[in-house]
Amino acid sequence: MSLPKPHGGSLVQSFDPFYDFTSIEREIKIDKIALSDLELIGVGVFSPLTGFLGKADYDSVVENLRLADGTVWSIPITLPVSYDVAENLMKGETFKLTHENEVYGVIKVTEWFEPDLAKEALYVYKTEDIAHPGVERLFERGPVYVAGEVTVVKHLEKGGSGDVWLEPKETRALFERKGWKAVVGFQTRNPVHRAHEYIQKVALETVDGLFLNPLVGETKADDIPADVRLKSYRVLLENYYPKERVLLGIYPAAMRYAGPREAVFHAIARKNFGCTHFIVGRDHAGVGDYYGTYDAQYIFNDFSEEELGIKPLFFEHSFYCNKCEGMSSEKTCPHGKEDRVILSGTKVREMLRQGVLPPATFSRKEVVEVLIDGLKEKEIV
Ligand code: ADX
Repeated sequence: MSLPKPHGGSLVQSFDPFYDFTSIEREIKIDKIALSDLELIGVGVFSPLTGFLGKADYDSVVENLRLADGTVWSIPITLPVSYDVAENLMKGETFKLTHENEVYGVIKVTEWFEPDLAKEALYVYKTEDIAHPGVERLFERGPVYVAGEVTVVKHLEKGGSGDVWLEPKETRALFERKGWKAVVGFQTRNPVHRAHEYIQKVALETVDGLFLNPLVGETKADDIPADVRLKSYRVLLENYYPKERVLLGIYPAAMRYAGPREAVFHAIARKNFGCTHFIVGRDHAGVGDYYGTYDAQYIFNDFSEEELGIKPLFFEHSFYCNKCEGMSSEKTCPHGKEDRVILSGTKVREMLRQGVLPPATFSRKEVVEVLIDGLKEKEIV
């Protein structure tokens, strides 16, 4: 086994800190989601994308989960602008891409178009309900999408997580240096609880390394803030994981909550980081009751292993079972619900806010303490 080639064949690298944009007068103001998408395109996490999608690719991704050339791609990466901005666009012109008065990149505009947002919602998120956080954002962001190749001129602020923002070229080099030939990637937007730890370690039993790759971009308001989570990952790794077999690196993308489609997208991004395997557990990237518990696993049946280029590892709902006296899953535990320690995300957040420690069978004590302190500090409790 060896590290996979980037999706589409080569790693897109369009970061140029010396790019001279001083003569470019016009700008497009971009939101936080587009800003993180820009960075991820620039460093190749979204290879083979070299910019924001044009109409042919967009339609093809929405309808067929593929770019127009047939490459698997499940989430449209788009740059929304208002009608006012769209009125002043010019084909072939280069615009600065700015966020809070800083220039982060440039785009050479090739086209712009009005998407059918209701269709995008229904096809990508399987619902038009604006109570779905991804759909709510989709409708807020519209109504015109600008397409074109981008160059990144300034990296995202790394804040306190600079040491763990590793670009694909860096993770690939690290995996090689460590001699890892098979690496499993793990996506999460949550603290790592015992069930997460269990499925990671079960996977790690059969590969060389684990790439813990928490999403730290935009999430919904009640998810635990990324900096608090990062502290909890560090304390967990320090106490319970073999240092030489785990790499922690952030995934600075926005969460879409698109369930099955996002699972495929997450897998492709981790392939670009150099992972050979990717964990998909229960209700991956789901929210509320919009997706079936294992829909994010079934969707992988639609693609061949060759065209995906990363192997999904599926896990059933995992938990601590008092009768088994250990971690187990629906697949391996013969006991009933009453013996299983299962807490919903909402319940856990409520406990943390009240300073109540969830049981050690649900989450490691060190992790819980960091979370309670972190939330207190932010006055979220
Ligand atoms: S996600 O939105 O990033 O997918 P989360 O951080 O909860 O949410 O999950 C990270 C990964 O762990 C996903 O693949 C998810 O399916 C899996 N997972 C989370 N909890 C469990 C569990 N109790 N049993 C099995 N898999 C789980």
